[in-house]
Amino acid sequence: MQNSPDSVPVLTVDGPSGSGKGTIVQRVAQKLGWHMLDSGALYRLVAFGALKNGLSLQDEAAIADYAVHLDVEFRLQDMPAGAPNPQELQIMLEGKPVGPELRTEETGNAASIVAAMPEVREALLQRQRDFRQPPGLVADGRDMGTTVFPDAQVKVFLTASAEERARRRYKQLIDKGISANLAALLRDINERDERDSQRSVSPLKPAADAVIIDTSDLSIDQVVEQVLAICKDRF
Ligand code: DC
Repeated sequence: MQNSPDSVPVLTVDGPSGSGKGTIVQRVAQKLGWHMLDSGALYRLVAFGALKNGLSLQDEAAIADYAVHLDVEFRLQDMPAGAPNPQELQIMLEGKPVGPELRTEETGNAASIVAAMPEVREALLQRQRDFRQPPGLVADGRDMGTTVFPDAQVKVFLTASAEERARRRYKQLIDKGISANLAALLRDINERDERDSQRSVSPLKPAADAVIIDTSDLSIDQVVEQVLAICKDRF
C-alpha cells in the first residue's frame, strides 16, 4: 500500500457556502505544505464554461457531456517580489485564464444547479481524486468526506448560521467594491443550502466520522488553530 495514492494523507473540509472554508483550507494547506483541492471551483467551471458555450442549464445531457470533457488546468504561478503570496493559482479554462467571474453569485447559483446533476458529479469524481498527491491533500467541498475521499484520515465539517454567512458574504462583496443586498444574499444562501442538502446525490451533510466546528462566533485564526490541532493528533 506504500505507493498507492490511497496512502497519501487527506484532510477533508466540508460545509455550506460562507462557512469560511475557502480561507481556512488555504491557510491550513499552507501550514501543512500540502496540495489543495477547491472542488467548488470545478462545479463553477462546468456551469460557467457551459453557459459560455451557449448550453442551457436545463439540458442535463449536454452539461454532463461538457463536464466529462472539461478542459481545465490549475497552474501555480510565481508572483512578483513583494506580492502577498509568493505563488498564486491561475485557472485556465479551454486555454484561457479565468478570473473573478468564477466567484460571482450568478456563477455560484448556476454551479449549484449543475452540482445537483448525478452525471456531472460522476464525471468530476476521478478528476478530484487525482489531486491526492504526496505529501498530502486538503480538500474543500460539500462531499469530500462522504463521497470523494471516504477514507480520509481527518474529516472536518464547518457550519455557521445562515445569517452569519450572509453577513460575511456581504462584507466580502462590499470590501471588493461590489454593491450587495443583505436580504437578497440571505435568500440566496437559504435557497442554495436547500438545493445542496436536499439533492439525491451526495447531499451536503457531515460524514459520520467528521469533527463538526460551528464557526459563527469564531475568527478565521481560531478555526485554523482548531483544525491544525485536530490534525496534529492524527497525522
Ligand atoms: O464552494 P462553492 O460556493 O464554490 O461551490 C459552488 C457550488 O458547487 C455550490 O452550490 C455547491 C456545489 N458543490 C458541490 O455540490 N460539491 C462540492 N464538492 C463542491 C461544491
